[in-house]
Amino acid sequence: MIIKPEVIVAEEPKALAQKGAEIFCLSADRCINQKRPFRVAVSGGSTPRAMHRLLAAEPCFKKKIWSGTHIFWVDERMVPAGHPASNFGAARKDFLDKVPIPPPHVHPMPFEADPEAGAGAYEKTLKVHFQTVGSDLPVFDLIFLGIGTDGHTASLLPGFSPERSAQRWVLAVKGGDPDVFRLTLNYHLLNQARHVVFLVSGKGKARIVKTIFESQKANLPAQRIKPAGGKLTWLMDKDALSQLDNVDNQMKGSA
Ligand code: 6PG
Repeated sequence: MIIKPEVIVAEEPKALAQKGAEIFCLSADRCINQKRPFRVAVSGGSTPRAMHRLLAAEPCFKKKIWSGTHIFWVDERMVPAGHPASNFGAARKDFLDKVPIPPPHVHPMPFEADPEAGAGAYEKTLKVHFQTVGSDLPVFDLIFLGIGTDGHTASLLPGFSPERSAQRWVLAVKGGDPDVFRLTLNYHLLNQARHVVFLVSGKGKARIVKTIFESQKANLPAQRIKPAGGKLTWLMDKDALSQLDNVDNQMKGSA
């Protein structure tokens, strides 16, 4: 059953980052209180960085969540960790090198392998960590996604036919900005999550947000994200929403 998405409007980017960090900590607290690990997959790009930095500051930093938290990625560029385009490198700088998370709980995508081999290796990492059996899929507690101005999410780019690799959990693709080889979680894995949160900020995303919300036939990658049994939240600032005529009021909350 697909639940109607929740839209949370943040006044400006700082409030967006604060709300994102709050969602992260609440989700982690819930798992820890249920005595189970908190598994979260994060995105790259620039939007989540302010939120990531808040995870390494009060109050998140001091919360008793880090020993039970496992960090995964929704996608990665196949560049060294020190490269400015590395999602892992950015996350390390922004919070992972600062929070008391056990190093084995950080599960970067293999960014130095051959792309196809890397995709297979990360699938194995997921299978082992989630101890999936048979055709079970890993269920993340929380996944943060961004959107590109072309409607991509993770590194699921427009024009890519998911049917081509429907069975693969992790895909090796080439393209995006920068135009490099990438690994990305596939749609059916993202849609398995208990909670997916799109983080969208800035006037530059206003047009694609309008298309995503108002033109279902656009058939964009971000529109394929519909967590079957989970919650979908669009956490956006006012600039990102500036071209959207009306968001159903019952969907709208404020940050
Ligand atoms: C990536 C990201 C990608 C990102 C969007 C938005 O590795 O490229 O995962 O999907 O979320 O491109 O990027 P910005 O936040 O920089 O606009």
